[in-house]
Amino acid sequence: MAPSVLSADFARLYEQVAAVESAGAEILHLDVMDGHFVPNISFGVPVIESLRKCSKMFFDAHLMITEPKRYAEAFVKAGCDHITFHTEVTQEPDAVVEHIRGLGASVGVCLNPTTPISAIESILDSVDLVLVMSVWPGFGGQSFISDVLPKVTELHKRLAEHQRLEIDGGIDPATIGAAAAAGADTFVAGSAIFGTPDPVAAMLKLHRLAVEAVGNQAGG
Ligand code: DX5
Ligand code: ZN
Repeated sequence: MAPSVLSADFARLYEQVAAVESAGAEILHLDVMDGHFVPNISFGVPVIESLRKCSKMFFDAHLMITEPKRYAEAFVKAGCDHITFHTEVTQEPDAVVEHIRGLGASVGVCLNPTTPISAIESILDSVDLVLVMSVWPGFGGQSFISDVLPKVTELHKRLAEHQRLEIDGGIDPATIGAAAAAGADTFVAGSAIFGTPDPVAAMLKLHRLAVEAVGNQAGG
């Protein structure tokens, strides 16, 4: 599970992040929006810098911004362990991958719901993670787009063992099983965790449902 703080109560951010971390969350998903690539603005470097001082989780930055190469260094310096950029913003994905790796972070590439795998063909072997959007990026709390599941299945077949396959958007108790069965291994959830009265219980339930979906599949 990768809880997304986008749906957290920002006045109680530390408390909410510490709660999911104590309950075993290892990845914190950080949704950075620039108001250009997506029609919304979220948070940036100062918030991440502050969180870094009070969390040991793996910081997974999802840059929904038009210029990832320009800003990646600031996010790595702020404490991000990983940077995912959108393939839709660049004609030179290889250069972006190389740049981020040179900063010492692991690298992911993200596909919007209708962006095909062919858009990332040239970097498929060189990234650490592929992120499939199962909503249009920009806002938490949207409904899962199940049309992306065949893309998840195909990526699962093509990615190597060490490469992660993350899915983001509309992940909740009703949808996580299908995403897990299609082959996703890392599940971003914002509103289904922080939008509930008991974020820890919600996260543990989602985790259990994902494990069960994979188990059921293996069992027949
Ligand atoms: C949307 C963000 C997501 C968002 C998911 O643009 O990339 O990470 O936080 O929110 P939910 O889980 O509520 O769909
Ligand atoms: Zn995200």
